[in-house]
Amino acid sequence: MSGAASESVPSSAPGDGHPMTTAELTEEVVARLSDAPDPRLRQIMQSLIRHLHAFAVDVRLTQAEWLAGIQFLTATGHKCDDKRQEFILLSDTLGLSMLIDLMEHEVDGSCTESTVLGPFYVPGSPERAYGASIAERPSGEPARVAGRVLDTDGRPIAGAEVDVWQNGDDMLYAVQDPDAPETNLRGLFRTTGDGRYAFLGVRPTDYPVPDDGPVGGMLQATGRHPWRAAHLHFIVRAPGFRPVTTHVFDDGSRYLESDTVFGVKASLVRHFERHEPGADDPPQGVGPDQVWYSLSFDFVLQRQA
Ligand code: BEZ
Ligand code: FE
Repeated sequence: MSGAASESVPSSAPGDGHPMTTAELTEEVVARLSDAPDPRLRQIMQSLIRHLHAFAVDVRLTQAEWLAGIQFLTATGHKCDDKRQEFILLSDTLGLSMLIDLMEHEVDGSCTESTVLGPFYVPGSPERAYGASIAERPSGEPARVAGRVLDTDGRPIAGAEVDVWQNGDDMLYAVQDPDAPETNLRGLFRTTGDGRYAFLGVRPTDYPVPDDGPVGGMLQATGRHPWRAAHLHFIVRAPGFRPVTTHVFDDGSRYLESDTVFGVKASLVRHFERHEPGADDPPQGVGPDQVWYSLSFDFVLQRQA
């Protein structure tokens, strides 16, 4: 080849008689991205191409299989609307959400570990008094949850926000249940002068993530279940400290080892202590013939850098 014609031919095009290889094709695509003006976008796209191509080569992906993959992604998009985000669920169930959360909130063991936010957080929970109930209707077995918010030197943080939301014995969060009061099982608490918070919730239940869409199909096809280990959700915030988005898991859950979104961390698992009817010192709102539980958890926040 000579002159102008050869200049428009890709560098990896077979000019010397050998058939194109997969490695040459990958390099050609990566090179095509080298002029991307944003360096971070360039880095992300070039790495994405390398890993995507390496994956397809690794499993020798067929055209029929890739078409099935495209159909799966298309169905995932079609399942999304302003209430349902099937792509986030896909990211959660592939462990990608937890992986990114781990990198963004790397800790050294001195503060509370984070976990996924999940789709059921609704900002603007009502502020409630120390010790108040978050159950606005009968929602399960009462559980008194209490503890402190501390800094990494063990000093109490006064006035910290403890934003909590949880499901009830019907397995649903308030946002999932059109019949539930909007603020049921949600509340915002502020720590006392000695860093304490307390509220009356209910013992949370294991529950399945929404599995009536393509992600549910993927879980079933790969021999996985859709269940999450029972937990309470928290966001804890205080001025001057890094907020933490986390869960406290029930050590009685059967899904601690196989939580479908990989959200369980050992440091977040706690025991719900059972109290028989008539036990001493029941929380306000618990009747004399009721079983109730108590749970203790201290949050430790890192100072903002
Ligand atoms: C949740 O804990 O609320 C949740 C997290 C990820 C996916 C689905 C639900
Ligand atoms: Fe949850």
